[in-house]
Amino acid sequence: MSLSTSAIDDALKSAVAAIKGARTLDELKAVKIEHVGDKSPISKLNQSLGKLEPSDRAEFGKILGQAKAEIGAGFAEQQSKLEVERDAKVLLEEVVDVTLPASNAHVGGLHPLTVIKNEVSDYFLSLGYSIAEGPELEAGWLNFDSLNIPADHPARTMQDTFFIEPLESGLVLRTHTSPVQMRTMLTQEPPIFIVSPGRTFRADELDVTHSPVFSQVEGLVVDKGITMAHLKGTLDDFAMKMFGPSAITRLRPSFFPFTEPSAEVDVWFNNRWIEWGGCGMVNPRVLETAGIDTNVYSGFAFGMGLERTLMVRQGIKDMHDIVEGDIRFSRSFGLGL
Ligand code: DAH
Repeated sequence: MSLSTSAIDDALKSAVAAIKGARTLDELKAVKIEHVGDKSPISKLNQSLGKLEPSDRAEFGKILGQAKAEIGAGFAEQQSKLEVERDAKVLLEEVVDVTLPASNAHVGGLHPLTVIKNEVSDYFLSLGYSIAEGPELEAGWLNFDSLNIPADHPARTMQDTFFIEPLESGLVLRTHTSPVQMRTMLTQEPPIFIVSPGRTFRADELDVTHSPVFSQVEGLVVDKGITMAHLKGTLDDFAMKMFGPSAITRLRPSFFPFTEPSAEVDVWFNNRWIEWGGCGMVNPRVLETAGIDTNVYSGFAFGMGLERTLMVRQGIKDMHDIVEGDIRFSRSFGLGL
């Protein structure tokens, strides 16, 4: 391309037209390469300036300089115009209406039974107890015999047991969490302070108050000088934790083979006495079975149903609601995560 005023004029006009025609910043970028950059017609004309006679160079240099300045100014103007447009568009597109109601993500919720299990565990952990666990498929000896419930003892028929075939296996689905007491005493030296929340099984029909699969929490303390006063104080404080500050407990004489003396524990809640669980001083025969010196140590134990605790506290009338696992039931407590 030879250098002439009309060539400069053409390059200028097509550059200005292309710049004005760019509708987005991306388009403008492409225009810049084609009409403003090193390979653009105007730059090429500028490069050919050196080939001119020195007498012509000044004149064309001036015209070219003006053309380049005009292109540069047009470019800058178009760029800021497109930037303003882009910013306005972004603001509009990304606008957030903070007055709209939030859409709540459907997170899961803990089952109320899990919540109460955690509550019980956390409470006893805060007192310095440990959590002990045992298997749901338990040796009959640990579930019964070791707890002073021999085969012909009427207490066995009190607890309708799921036996596991073959019967010679001696295995049962544990009927209570009390075997965890024996497991703990057989493996740990006193002082022992444990609670054991867990699932238990009895051959009951599912109805409004019973379930063949239910949960208990067992408590066991074995140390020097443990008395029934410690048991009563512990139950009172535990009751207040579960049922509120006005809860108190009362003990009624009862019988359990693994405690002597034994008691039923009732809790005063909503202006009436509620049967809550069983308790007592660990029967010395049970301590001896575990190899614990009864001249040195004594202990207390208690056990209560967690479904029952939950039902009483939350006013749940029907066991089906607890076992059926309908998410609406869990949600209705607002308990959990
Ligand atoms: N294991 C008993 C039951 O399931 C409850 C129980 C009573 C547990 C007295 C205890 C206790 O630890 O001392 O019926």
